[in-house]
Amino acid sequence: MCPNSFLLFMKKLGSWKGVVGTQHGDEAKGKIVDVLADEADEVVRYNGANNAGHKIYNTDGSRSVVLSQAPSGVLKGKRGFIAANSLFSPSAYFEELERIKKFGVDNAIHLTRIATQASLIQPHQRLRDVALAKEAIGTTGRGIGPGYGDRAMRTHGERQLDLRMGVLLEDTQKAMRIMQNNYDAEVALLERDPECDQKRLKAAIAKLNIKDLMAQEFDAINTLVGLELIEKDPAYIVRRLQQGMNILAEGAQSLYLANLGTTPYITSSDPSVGGAISCGMPWQYLKELIFVAKSIPTRVGKGPFITEYGGSAQEAYCMEDEGDKHNRAYEQAAYGHRLDACLRSNNPLEFAGAVRSQTDEYGGVSGRPRRLGEFDAYMIRTAIEMYGATGLHLSKVDCLQLLKHRESIRIGVGYAQSGKNIDYVPTNEADARRTEAVYREYGTFDADISNAKSAAELPKELRRMLQDLEDYLGCPIHSIGIGPRGDQVIFRQGNWALAA
Ligand code: IMP
Repeated sequence: MCPNSFLLFMKKLGSWKGVVGTQHGDEAKGKIVDVLADEADEVVRYNGANNAGHKIYNTDGSRSVVLSQAPSGVLKGKRGFIAANSLFSPSAYFEELERIKKFGVDNAIHLTRIATQASLIQPHQRLRDVALAKEAIGTTGRGIGPGYGDRAMRTHGERQLDLRMGVLLEDTQKAMRIMQNNYDAEVALLERDPECDQKRLKAAIAKLNIKDLMAQEFDAINTLVGLELIEKDPAYIVRRLQQGMNILAEGAQSLYLANLGTTPYITSSDPSVGGAISCGMPWQYLKELIFVAKSIPTRVGKGPFITEYGGSAQEAYCMEDEGDKHNRAYEQAAYGHRLDACLRSNNPLEFAGAVRSQTDEYGGVSGRPRRLGEFDAYMIRTAIEMYGATGLHLSKVDCLQLLKHRESIRIGVGYAQSGKNIDYVPTNEADARRTEAVYREYGTFDADISNAKSAAELPKELRRMLQDLEDYLGCPIHSIGIGPRGDQVIFRQGNWALAA
């Protein structure tokens, strides 16, 4: 079939949209996915696992739930699919289902199928992640790096390192034995590893509690197998598209935690639309590709963050005690009673802490404080150029009101080193650490925009900034988020600056 007749043939069929993070994760993708899910028949997760945390609010904004493996549409009764490039933790998934039940959705388990080729996250991978990488890199400690590592490695001597979901359909008991063997061998290896802090290892072993964990995994796996939720057909998604379904592909993490990131401070899966395509979502059916960026950018874990308030001092502050020290409760007590003074403060740590506590920028799953910075449009433009986007969703625009006492809202539009402009995004750590942003300045605004219904109701300074940003990015700003609820989104209706 020639390409043209192929496209004609496809017109009768379904299509898919992709949502991809364009900063360092936590761009509030869950919310826009939840909004876009209204028009979808099914939501697909194509990368990562329970390292993600997508926070979604109920309609009146009074309650929220953090989804980490379940595709966001399940809260609206949409079908979900966890596709081949994902890892999957059965025990964590069942804990998540309990959270979803408390949120008021009882049948979520029946809605989501899991690809036969997704890999199980095994206890030994969690142990290795916590013992060797969590402190060094600031990983989530959920076994993600070791899980993808083992998937690539497949076997090591006698050990079968990677277990795909499909093997559970053949022989669950055998899979459990492999998991236990992998765990025992890992403990023995780590106990002899001079790089491994033995005190930390002992604590991790105690916390993991392998006996209980194996029992939980066994129950969870049996339930999934019993309910026939593991999908054997590798062409499942394209079959749904051929049936005319509209599918939303929900990326986890972000392009700047992948090939655009700085090793080793990256995650191990491919969040780009290429990751979705390689799960069997043909590009010919791709209708829209929405990138997501947060107007108050954040990063969790370690790694360079060029526009960070206070630079590496904030990185150290947020990572103290692996992120546990300056948590939500600590910061609310520290900044809540003198908020205005902190928002006026010249001390970047104090300013960032106050903004963080007001905008609730703490890890959805881990609870770690997220490092805060200024908006870096250069990195987003580069991602758009490299990976393509039909539109950008700019989240949490209402939070820019907190910058009201500053001289201006600054947006990074380029980079420099020792006063000389550079024309690339540095992906090497030392290179990134000596880079600073070149900024454009915009007028601040002091207005609560969270109830605005259209662009015309936004302050003119903000509308000008949005239009200028759109021109700079060379990509339409598809929509902006102005609050946590699903109805707090303003969609583009034309030139933002001219909206009337
Ligand atoms: P891992 O994905 O747990 O291996 O962690 C690697 C890096 O990616 C760490 O800096 C994590 O904080 C970061 N990371 C992983 N998942 C997310 C996410 O969903 N949001 C933000 N950062 C993430």
